[in-house]
Amino acid sequence: MPASVVIGTQWGDEGKGKVVDLLAADADVVVRFHGGNNAGHTLVVDGEKTVLNLIPAGVLHPGRICMLGPGMVIDPEVLVAEIDALRARGYLADDRWLRVSEQAHLILPYHRAIDHARERLRGAGKIGTTGRGIGPAYEDKVARTGIRVADLFDDDGFREALERNVREKNGYLEALLGERPLSFAELYARCLAYRERLRPFVADTVREVQAALAAGRRVLLEGAQATMLDVDHGTYPFVTSSNAVAGAAAAGAGVPPRALGRIVGIAKAYTTRVGAGPFPTELTDALGERLRADGEEYGATTGRPRRCGWFDAVVVRHAVALSGVDGLALTKLDVLTGVDPLPVCVAYEADGRRLAGLPATTRGWGRVRPVYETLPGWHEPLGAARTLAELPANARRYVERLADLAGAPLLLLSVGAQRDQTIRLGAVF
Ligand code: IMP
Repeated sequence: MPASVVIGTQWGDEGKGKVVDLLAADADVVVRFHGGNNAGHTLVVDGEKTVLNLIPAGVLHPGRICMLGPGMVIDPEVLVAEIDALRARGYLADDRWLRVSEQAHLILPYHRAIDHARERLRGAGKIGTTGRGIGPAYEDKVARTGIRVADLFDDDGFREALERNVREKNGYLEALLGERPLSFAELYARCLAYRERLRPFVADTVREVQAALAAGRRVLLEGAQATMLDVDHGTYPFVTSSNAVAGAAAAGAGVPPRALGRIVGIAKAYTTRVGAGPFPTELTDALGERLRADGEEYGATTGRPRRCGWFDAVVVRHAVALSGVDGLALTKLDVLTGVDPLPVCVAYEADGRRLAGLPATTRGWGRVRPVYETLPGWHEPLGAARTLAELPANARRYVERLADLAGAPLLLLSVGAQRDQTIRLGAVF
């Protein structure tokens, strides 16, 4: 059976956590294929909130194998804390349920220090990163100086690589960024402690996920961030440092492209963005504030308020085309109750002309004017709907129009944070 893939179609925070948690009920293995603890999933199960930053949302289903794939960057300190927090709540009862790729790269404290210092120095031009060291860790990976999970277990090699990197990063931190140097001895000792904590979970996840596929098991590949934060296809340079499109799932998990089956795109019923960068449908008025309040639009990782705006079908259509999305999971529809009318962005204009594609530069994005189509809103609460027919007619018309504009059928609708506040319209495996 081919693997199913879940990706974000906007600027992140589409509610992937809830959707992956739901889909994981039917999966045997869930693999995250890129990113690190810049991601944050908030899940509500039986009224209890859990925030996950690294471990796939499948972990809330006992017995699912959750893998952190080779394409990820992993902060060992954060991973150890996440394991402890899950264990304290009765999850992850068996070590074998968590597998950490030996090929994944480590995020170390100097990556975080560099991320913070650079953002500070950028001043008004800052990206608004999550400050988790993501970019600097991927830079080391691509520069071929990074340290991988497997390296922790090669005593001499690890010491040598860490010494070299700390020397180099300290030089950069002190001379160019005006920061204090880090202590090698302290970091080395901490890494040895993390190594022992992580030892039971470290595995050749590529071999394991391929064996699972060969055995006909159901594999879900979980993306983080989203298409418009993809380093190649997003609003560069206001993006993250990895590929978030479905094409990256094969490389990031270590499976052949032919092993990918259904591609699920998650879209919020409106748009949000956290951090800086272009956002044509942003609402900077009271309506934007209302969406933020009603949708609890504050970053799960950093607590930052998210920027809110109207649904942008240009963006979602772009994501559908890039990833070959087979079905859309539309989330947070309930938040729009009482917002009437509902403008939806159907095209971009710049200098009085319709754009055929997306701008390639920040300046180009600055010239974009959204073209809106206005749909009627609804006033009834949606939290109790479990079928399309139970939605008010205008809510139905809204979601059907969004799917039409995006160019992909609806697979799932979320009408509340709880697992059961969901309308299922199709299968994922
Ligand atoms: P970084 O990934 O920490 O380098 O941040 C780069 C940009 O991506 C910033 O605008 C962040 O706010 C954004 N970002 C990174 N991860 C997420 C996420 O999981 N959800 C939403 N935005 C994110």
